[in-house]
Amino acid sequence: MNSYKITLLPGDGIGPEITSVTRKILHLLAKKFNFELKFKEMPFGGSAINLEGNPFPDSTFHECKNSDAVLLAAIGDPKYDQLPREKRPETGLLKLRSSLDLFANIRPVKIIPSLTKASSLKEEFIKDVDLIVVRELTSGIYFGEPKGRIKTEEGERAFNTMTYTSKEVKRIAEVAFKLAKERNQKICSVDKANVLDVSQLWREETKLVSNNFKEVELTHQYVDNAAMQLVRNPSQFDVILTSNLFGDILSDIAAMLSGSIGMLPSASLTTDGPGVFEPVHGSAPDIAGKDLANPIAMLLSASMMLKIALNETNAANYLENAIDEILAENYRTSDLMSSGAGKQVGCSKMGELISEKLR
Ligand code: IPM
Ligand code: MN
Repeated sequence: MNSYKITLLPGDGIGPEITSVTRKILHLLAKKFNFELKFKEMPFGGSAINLEGNPFPDSTFHECKNSDAVLLAAIGDPKYDQLPREKRPETGLLKLRSSLDLFANIRPVKIIPSLTKASSLKEEFIKDVDLIVVRELTSGIYFGEPKGRIKTEEGERAFNTMTYTSKEVKRIAEVAFKLAKERNQKICSVDKANVLDVSQLWREETKLVSNNFKEVELTHQYVDNAAMQLVRNPSQFDVILTSNLFGDILSDIAAMLSGSIGMLPSASLTTDGPGVFEPVHGSAPDIAGKDLANPIAMLLSASMMLKIALNETNAANYLENAIDEILAENYRTSDLMSSGAGKQVGCSKMGELISEKLR
């Protein structure tokens, strides 16, 4: 029997609630599909700050590094905003990404037919949406040097650096091209090449990579236009390839096409080593502990983990079908309630309903 080591990072806010639902459901799937999952929960984010004064303790890093995959819920809470940047939950997340070299962030957006009414866009614009945002995750302005704050005669000056090397662009572009090749063979690379030098290099390198993927059509959009196109005509996109900051912004816009950011999973991958699978949404401290969270983005992240990291594709498909069925039966967490339609359930009830489909 195949056995896998999974590090669970429940994190903050709604994190522990959606983790507990996901853990139970993964156990059911393992039993049904005859594999074994060994979970280890480790402190991360705000909860690790409380325990050890560090958002990403060494012990958590070692567990992650030595596992087959990492499943992360969410981190962050405004109560940590006053701490020095080094000690904030977000810094822990950035360290997790860089220490595991998770340069490729994959964020798929697929419309679930029974949810088209939950979107703030008209049904006709979103019904055919099936896209993937491929976001570079370990470089760009998030990590660029120099950065900092200095005192000047005119007051303080603060700065960050948006930087990419050709090698960094090439490796993320290759991930996007390989994905596009298996899908609808279209890539839109998003940059700001009309203004930024770093984007000019991005564009040149992407074109070079495209020479090795002749069957894939490569187009380019400036990021302001891409943001507009995502709400104007989102079904034009197949794979969107972009840098760290632009990908952060565009993936939130793309998430809303599906009706709720509570539906969007992601995978952060490296060339050789464990990936991190996590919902795109944050820790939602305003609804934490109230059993109101939507566990589906984390369940869909677990499904990506089953497919990509563990090769347990049948279990993943089975889980996705169960989720589709429960949504088609009109069960909704509060984030998915469109005016009057649907039977509202909490996080744990949503978990139980999906579990029943798996028995
Ligand atoms: C995301 C988040 C993170 C990011 C934050 C929490 C640091 O918004 O994963 O999209 O900006 O990358
Ligand atoms: Mn974000």
